[in-house]
Amino acid sequence: MASPHSPDIRFLRICFLLPICLFILFPPRPVLSQCKKLPVIFNFGDSNSDTGGLVAGLGFPVNLPNGRTFFGRSTGRVADGRLLIDLLCQSLNASFLGPYLDSLGSKFTNGANFAVVGSSTLPKYVPFALHIQVMQFLHFKARTLELFSAGSGHLINDEGFRNALYMIDIGQNDLADSFAKNLSYAQVIRRIPTVIMEIKNAVQAIYDQGGRKFWIHNTGPLGCLPQKLSLVQKKDLDPHGCLSSYNAAAVLFNEGLRHLCQEMRSGLKDATIVYVDIYAIKYDLIANSTKYGFSSPLMACCGYGGPPYNYNIRVTCGQPGYQACNDGSQFISWDGIHYTEAANTIIASKILSMAYSTPRIAFDFFCH
Ligand SMILES: *[C@@H]1O[C@H](CO)[C@@H](O)[C@H](O)[C@H]1NC(C)=O
Ligand SMILES: *[C@@H]1O[C@H](CO)[C@@H](O)[C@H](O)[C@H]1NC(C)=O
Ligand SMILES: *[C@@H]1O[C@H](CO)[C@@H](O)[C@H](O)[C@H]1NC(C)=O
Repeated sequence: MASPHSPDIRFLRICFLLPICLFILFPPRPVLSQCKKLPVIFNFGDSNSDTGGLVAGLGFPVNLPNGRTFFGRSTGRVADGRLLIDLLCQSLNASFLGPYLDSLGSKFTNGANFAVVGSSTLPKYVPFALHIQVMQFLHFKARTLELFSAGSGHLINDEGFRNALYMIDIGQNDLADSFAKNLSYAQVIRRIPTVIMEIKNAVQAIYDQGGRKFWIHNTGPLGCLPQKLSLVQKKDLDPHGCLSSYNAAAVLFNEGLRHLCQEMRSGLKDATIVYVDIYAIKYDLIANSTKYGFSSPLMACCGYGGPPYNYNIRVTCGQPGYQACNDGSQFISWDGIHYTEAANTIIASKILSMAYSTPRIAFDFFCH
């Protein structure tokens, strides 16, 4: 038995007064995600996070070779394999998010995915604009709680909705559509505040329903997409071979989104709003591609036409005549617009590192 004056006990007595000692006595556990509660996630967005919404909603086929890498079949994801949202779900040991519009197979016990390929924030009342996705969520929530109180088990309850993570990844198509309509750079820029306002309205609507935890991705370097590079005639290229004006618009959009998040953090009481700089992660991946093991950062794996971009709008990936590279793990771009699973895996690990998040909060913060 230790005497009351043994050095150990004295050490403990002094030690409890000093925070640094708490680290010695109770070292922090390694960052291995173990949710205490079942993680519930609701996601809103475009093809960057669509896990099958387009196919379910409009019957639009997304053909092989999409899906070839991980799933071995087409799942409706426009990519060879897993998307960022899939990898983030896996980091929590959670199952993949089912598309809200899928009437078969989805049980919606861990949330729902409202993202659909091609979605933007504006115009507001077309399928499946952000506003419509939020309306669908409101319906989903009302209906789920109704069924829950009628005794249906295994559904998300009120607490589940309150503790859920609400993810938003949208804006890329707003910018891309503006450029595609031949708007001048100045005109594209002038539309940005209304797009930001739509994202603000979406967060506010979810907050009004009790949502408190938000995870918002900014938009990637639009001017580095092989599709844009192949379609634009007069190219003003930056040192990494990307379209300067497209990237400048993405940077301005992201500035607006970052400000919005900052503003909402002080305006929305008790809300946690994490802003993630996807642009910085993707631009680094492209600019330093060799360091990450990729050879042609601006060329699509799956498309038509060969170097430099392997993109042809008439023969896109999965359409008759397309050609796909043998090894997608050497490419960043899958089809000229979307990233390969290999790229997404690196991007996801950078997201999980917290280095690109404001504030620096771990992705699993909402399920503890
Ligand atoms: C992940 O889930 C599996 C089964 O669903 C379980 O056996 C395992 O313990 C879980 N791991 C963690 C880290 O939660
Ligand atoms: C945009 O401009 C290009 C080249 O001037 C032209 O070929 C194309 O048809 C225009 N697109 C639209 C939507 O006006
Ligand atoms: C490329 O990597 C270098 C060294 O890590 C870094 O300083 C630079 O910011 C990266 N480029 C981009 C565009 O992120």
